[in-house]
Amino acid sequence: MKNEKSFIIKFSLDNGLSPDRNSIKRILSDMEGMYLDNSKLKEMLNSGDIVVYEFYDLGMPENPGELAYGTTILYPGKVGNEYFMTKGHFHAKIDTAEIYYCIKGHGYLLMENPEGEVEFQEMKPGLSVYVPPRFAHRSINIDNNEPLIMFFAFRADAGHDYKTIETKGFRKLIIERDGKPEIIDNPKWKQ
Ligand code: NI
Repeated sequence: MKNEKSFIIKFSLDNGLSPDRNSIKRILSDMEGMYLDNSKLKEMLNSGDIVVYEFYDLGMPENPGELAYGTTILYPGKVGNEYFMTKGHFHAKIDTAEIYYCIKGHGYLLMENPEGEVEFQEMKPGLSVYVPPRFAHRSINIDNNEPLIMFFAFRADAGHDYKTIETKGFRKLIIERDGKPEIIDNPKWKQ
């Protein structure tokens, strides 16, 4: 299967959402074990589940010549002093890159490869980040009030490996200290 006709999908510059498709939502309970302070997460769940982020999977044909793309909307919030973030993933075809373009908000893109090289890039409206092949990537919203809205695109057959990050975590984390973001070593990171 491949796309043989052009088409348009709208993404709002205000809230990042598309009126044309349904988003995939990740709620706080989906994020169990991803944050440093899991007991804090459980405590937060007592007062109800909330959407941490949503994004689009347009179901593109998984061919190397096609592109998967969409927006991701990461809402403001913290678990303890750790900012709301996406799960993050490697691509199953690890040699595939990705582009993120920031539409709204303020955050970071955290990247690391299996060799242990770590990269951080700040995300502000108008900035694009090139995630090189082999780098796992996670977005982090460091604004306590506004969502971080980004557009992404990658090779449609890249696939996702969430498991490695779910099991090992990233080597670094971003927490808030004295009202400012701080990059720290992840004490829970597993070799
Ligand atoms: Ni990706």
